[in-house]
Amino acid sequence: MDVYGLIGNPVGHSLSPPMHEAGYEALGLDARYVTFEPDADAAAGAIAGAADLGVAGLNVTVPFKRDALDAVDPAPLAERIGAVNTVDYGPVRKGDADRPRGHNTDAAGVTRALEHHDVTIDGRDALVVGAGGAGRAAAFALADAGAAVHVANRTAGRAVELAEAVPGATGGGLDDLADRVAAADLLVNATSVGMESPEETPVPAEHLHGDLAVLDAVYAPIETRLLREAADAGATTVDGAWMLLFQGVEAFEIWTDEDAPVEAMNAALRAELE
Ligand code: ATR
Repeated sequence: MDVYGLIGNPVGHSLSPPMHEAGYEALGLDARYVTFEPDADAAAGAIAGAADLGVAGLNVTVPFKRDALDAVDPAPLAERIGAVNTVDYGPVRKGDADRPRGHNTDAAGVTRALEHHDVTIDGRDALVVGAGGAGRAAAFALADAGAAVHVANRTAGRAVELAEAVPGATGGGLDDLADRVAAADLLVNATSVGMESPEETPVPAEHLHGDLAVLDAVYAPIETRLLREAADAGATTVDGAWMLLFQGVEAFEIWTDEDAPVEAMNAALRAELE
């Protein structure tokens, strides 16, 4: 049996175990997905050494995504983003490497969620609101997929710093948000605004328009105020569960070398959320 898991603190309410286990079941794989919640000072050692316990792959979540970078041999995209959310112990278990391979599948979560909804990224103007971990992954993902990216963040300096690292990107504060939204084809909410608070939105409704595709990284609630108002404005909307799904799908495919059963994983995830 192969053991996969999630390491973070806290991980108690994670939706990843049912999502991944639905995938194993659909493909008939003999595997389990469990959660680990180490103290902060033990996390890097646990990530570096989990292959010794026979662990085949780990997802990494808050607050260990940066620590994980130092515990693995990072893929170029994970190194550029500065965060690892997926660790593959395959190379260590086969004796091909001393360190596990680290990936960032949050980036693929953004692009694959949009592509699944037939949203074109290449050549489009993308506005990423937020410059934390989710914003970093979204900005790199969209720029690599051919979008011209602007990062807008409450703390303007964080957006400017991020934009300097992302090819062709610009960054700034929220003061010109109306103009930025008007000029955008794609809008990604990568802030925590709207999480557990259905009355909050990062972008006022009057700025939204029908030529937008809006992806919200927030998945609780599944229909945020931003997505409801974007739909009212005629925009294409993609909820945060799609991002969560496709970061998991991408990790599943890295670990198993098989096409993930997307429908089965999506059904399990949505059953947990609804
Ligand atoms: P994550 O890793 O999930 O992206 P994070 O690093 O804490 O989390 O980042 C949270 C993001 O939400 C940041 O961009 C933050 O803006 P600041 O950099 O200015 O802190 C943004 N954010 C959080 N609360 C916000 C609010 N009330 N209004 C606007 N932006 C907010």
